[in-house]
Amino acid sequence: MEKNKYLECLAYMGIGGAHPGGLLATKYVLNEVSIPRGLNILDVGCGTGQTAAFLEKQYEANVTALDNHEMMVEKALKRKEQEQLTINVVNGNVEALPFADDSFDMVISESVLAFTNVSKAISEICRVLKDDGIFYCIEMVLEKSSKELNQITDFYGMEKIFKEEEWVSLLQNAGFKMTNSKTFEYDIHQITVDDAPEFQLSESVDDAHVDTLLEHDYLTKQFQKELGFRIFHCKL
Ligand SMILES: C[S@@+](CC[C@H](N)C(=O)[O-])C[C@H]1O[C@@H](n2cnc3c(N)ncnc32)[C@H](O)[C@@H]1O
Repeated sequence: MEKNKYLECLAYMGIGGAHPGGLLATKYVLNEVSIPRGLNILDVGCGTGQTAAFLEKQYEANVTALDNHEMMVEKALKRKEQEQLTINVVNGNVEALPFADDSFDMVISESVLAFTNVSKAISEICRVLKDDGIFYCIEMVLEKSSKELNQITDFYGMEKIFKEEEWVSLLQNAGFKMTNSKTFEYDIHQITVDDAPEFQLSESVDDAHVDTLLEHDYLTKQFQKELGFRIFHCKL
């Protein structure tokens, strides 16, 4: 299968906080949930493990961080070692999670589902969540149609870009009760050094990866009216 050049770029550059709003948005969402010490949390598509590390450090959660890109898994493991964490880092696919039914109290997915077979991924997340478990995800949404949207789907290797109500249907059809969906407004000046996107470059990073990142930036600006994002908060 052809590799997704955007996800390859993120992996080679080791970009942490690769979702809208970055760690600031993560903190905003987590602030609204009760996270008792020792809660079993799964972060699917964890990337370099920035959110997973935050969950362990801030809440003393029992965190499992899963990604299917070997380089991301290596970078998450490196973080685990450097920050002396106990996170369980797993190389695996969200469409076929290597966990028993009812394993987690909470699942988090930050800018991941749109790159997957969405129905399979959501159904797997439901399966591994305990009854009453919480799921939160941040996803790109289509705000306004355009004939040129194939530029986006081609670039990001996505099946399609779902509208907010389509995400809600996908989640509800899988068995989730929606609690809410909202956007997150932030000002660039609110982002402190601690919340800024991180880079853990691989030695083999090259100009093509930089070009991909620039193209991502260009497309985000070009389609700023058509694309948005939502934070979906659901319960089983
Ligand atoms: C946009 S990045 C977001 C990474 C991280 N959640 C963050 O916010 O920094 C998407 C991540 O999902 C991972 N991913 C994509 N498809 C996946 C799949 N089927 N199973 C597991 N991980 C996947 C990619 O390797 C990448 O690390």
